[in-house]
Amino acid sequence: MAVYDTLGTTYARTRRPDTRIAARIHAALGDAEDVINVGAGPGSYEPPHTLLAVEPSRTMLAQRPPGSAPAVCAVAERLPLRDKAADAVMALLTVHHWTDLAAGLAELRRVARRRVVVLTWDQRVFRERFWLVRDYLPQAAAYDDTRAVPPERLAALLGGARLETVPVPHDCTDGFGAAYWRRPHAYLDPEVRAGISMLAQTGDDTLTPGLTALADHLATGHWHTRHADLLARDTIDVGYRLLVADLCPRGARRDLHARPDRGGGPRPPA
Ligand SMILES: C[S@@+](CC[C@H](N)C(=O)[O-])C[C@H]1O[C@@H](n2cnc3c(N)ncnc32)[C@H](O)[C@@H]1O
Repeated sequence: MAVYDTLGTTYARTRRPDTRIAARIHAALGDAEDVINVGAGPGSYEPPHTLLAVEPSRTMLAQRPPGSAPAVCAVAERLPLRDKAADAVMALLTVHHWTDLAAGLAELRRVARRRVVVLTWDQRVFRERFWLVRDYLPQAAAYDDTRAVPPERLAALLGGARLETVPVPHDCTDGFGAAYWRRPHAYLDPEVRAGISMLAQTGDDTLTPGLTALADHLATGHWHTRHADLLARDTIDVGYRLLVADLCPRGARRDLHARPDRGGGPRPPA
């Protein structure tokens, strides 16, 4: 059974693709004519020209909306695809779950003709800048320390990659770890926590003292006084990073040219 068969039951409710992040991902994909999405979950951020989604959890596959791209139940480490199957391959917020990172990244390179795009986070920046894990839930940060992959390591395994900062909007609709940085009450909601693997996998028993302190600081106004600077901001960089790796051999066209964003989220129903 895949981890997300239990972890992912409410995923589509709290993890709705964010249009601003979609624009960044689609710009990174450039003019790729077809795209494979690995670790696809319910299909967030898939462009309309997605050829295939690859996802090991049947619970996640079941949350793909009608009209989504075709999907196959498989893991990154063994992609059921021929070499150079699509212009671009993307893997979004998934590599930290893989059992064999090097094998999975080698597979992304094998099936991509021109570009690999990976969305991840830099745990050193996250730990230092994100108040939730720094001040309240260090156990969750410690859990992420065991699985977060430094972007430079990813870039090296991809044979070189450009790194782009992905700021998190204050009203981000994709409820990943730091999505609620300016909406602190959200972390007291069990459904929100269920959609964030670092919190769900650390477990409420371990998190309770920190969550109780957060609830207290919100009730007394201490949090708002301490974080007045955050309340004045629209976006924050807490370490989310896009890696863009070009695979063209020497002499071939290296760039996938940027093109206008064609909208975020899963493909609309046909
Ligand atoms: C946080 S979700 C991200 C889903 C989607 N990419 C998104 O951005 O919403 C992580 C996904 O990685 C998948 N996953 C876990 N292990 C995997 C593996 N070895 N190969 C491919 N996907 C995997 C999980 O089942 C889950 O759907």
